[in-house]
Amino acid sequence: MKEYKNGEFRKKDIGNVYTVYGWVNKRRDMGGVIFVDLRDKSGFLQVVFNRGFLKNDFALAESLKNEYCLKVKGELIARTPEMVNPKIPTGEVELMVEELEILSEASAVPFNIYDDKEINENIALKYRYLDLRREKLQNTLKVRHEITKTVREYLDNHDFTEVETPILCKSTPEGARDYIVPSRVNKGSFYALPQSPQIFKQLLMVGGMERYYQIAKCFRDEDLRADRQPEFTQIDLEMSFANQEDVINLVEGMIKAVVKKIKGIDLPEFARMPYKEAMDRFGSDKPDTRFGMELLDLTEILRGTKMNVFQNVIENGGIVKCLIVKNNGDKYSRSDVEHLTDFVKIYGAKGLAWLKYDNDTFNGVIAKNLENEKLELMKETYHITNNDLILIVADKKKVVYDALGALRLKIANTLNLIDKDKLNFLWVVDFPMFEYSETEGRYKATHHPFTMPADLKMLDDKENCLSIAYDIVLNGYELGGGSVRIHNPKTQKIVFDALGLTEEDIKRKFGFFIEAFKYGAPPHAGLAIGLERFTMLMCGTDNIKDVIAFPKTQSASDLMSEAPNEVSMEQLKELGISLVKEEENA
Ligand code: AMO
Repeated sequence: MKEYKNGEFRKKDIGNVYTVYGWVNKRRDMGGVIFVDLRDKSGFLQVVFNRGFLKNDFALAESLKNEYCLKVKGELIARTPEMVNPKIPTGEVELMVEELEILSEASAVPFNIYDDKEINENIALKYRYLDLRREKLQNTLKVRHEITKTVREYLDNHDFTEVETPILCKSTPEGARDYIVPSRVNKGSFYALPQSPQIFKQLLMVGGMERYYQIAKCFRDEDLRADRQPEFTQIDLEMSFANQEDVINLVEGMIKAVVKKIKGIDLPEFARMPYKEAMDRFGSDKPDTRFGMELLDLTEILRGTKMNVFQNVIENGGIVKCLIVKNNGDKYSRSDVEHLTDFVKIYGAKGLAWLKYDNDTFNGVIAKNLENEKLELMKETYHITNNDLILIVADKKKVVYDALGALRLKIANTLNLIDKDKLNFLWVVDFPMFEYSETEGRYKATHHPFTMPADLKMLDDKENCLSIAYDIVLNGYELGGGSVRIHNPKTQKIVFDALGLTEEDIKRKFGFFIEAFKYGAPPHAGLAIGLERFTMLMCGTDNIKDVIAFPKTQSASDLMSEAPNEVSMEQLKELGISLVKEEENA
């Protein structure tokens, strides 16, 4: 068995004979003497093959190539003073090899393991097992492990029990598309992979478990982004006889324990912000509060203007908001602003009006058309000064929030306004109970249909009804979310009615679940944190693939194993499935 960590040899170990194992990270052949950095998980040790000391045929040492896997035995000696490298932990010592055994030869690798040069992502994913040998992934996976370890310890200390829930399930109501699995035994029937353990964890509460958690695999067939994977992991928990405050306190303590462990930092109490305020000020329910440049309202200032673009929107119940890019107007040329206009159009905005303030005057097309007193009022209200750029969107509320919320982040990144060392945790609370789905033409549950409304009397007022749901946000990422659940069948029925679900729908979708609540369900609440997002933010990466050992690409495939793949006709036949040709499908 391997006894020593290559990266841990120091001066104090000099004079002893060791057997060490590892991979050839790099080799330098000086003719008669060959130096190899022998890498393992802990770092590397310089091992020296000298004709005079090596008992094997020296040709064996000469045959070594990068990534050969070796076992070597020899004495640890001090490096000669000119060979000492203070930059590496083992830089004062080296192993003079007496015996060499090549455990595995290696073909030429498609990229260097020893450097941290960016490599083409497709190649890195195809040879993921080689990318895993690199320092970056070794580190991120270690952090991920430390996080789950700390979480388990913390929750164990708070009397939680880890329980596994099924992977082959009935569809859960999380709102994304399900991955489905055909049943061979029950032809024509399908399981769904869980989007989260939501239903099961609530049933565990009905089952008297009181405090449950799970590091749970979840599956969602949704459009992928830099912070989304089709298969991901949640730190999922649920507590009986607990309210919002209890969950927030417990989870805040858990996050603080993790940050202390990973970063060595003692975090202050997390800030809280109601959803409405987050939207008004930042255009987002997951605001990045590490910098200002908040959305400022112009609706009242511009009410009554003769300028059509604003007048029409305000008269039709829309809003006008702006961002003021302070003291950076000179960084944005006309064509830069045109690019920003194209950017906000992605979010449905029809355009981006802009003003520059310089030499104590407003410039830009709308400066000529907007009434002077309106301009003056803007200037006074928002303390506009020379070299400010004002970017304005007028539209329906949602479009204004989406467009300016995204623009705010884009500009902050361009102008380096974000202090990357900050960790701004924020609880966003008081989420709306319902949200309108344009595609379905109806109101849906913002969180899920088992979320407790803040006030039952508000259920008819779909736009303003709040729920007892909360999200934990870190630096502009939604890290996790949860809610107080409905435990009373009467309340559940009222909420289902408000969602327009028929008896038939309810029975088909959640019949077994509703049945369970007839038997004395305790009040309960919970939350789930995205483990990958948490790890990403602890590692300072914005790519979720960096914290998953075997991730999927944007098109949900695994380039290494080539999943998904076609299956044989026999397999399909056994499952009672026949494929529809592309044209028929279209
Ligand atoms: P929610 O759907 O908000 O809540 O998910 C909780 C957290 O899971 C992470 N997450 C993802 N991470 C990576 N890739 C994805 N595709 C992905 N989707 C979600 C996010 C998110 O905040 N059952 C509820 C929780 C509860 O109410 O207790 C739930 O799943 O970090």
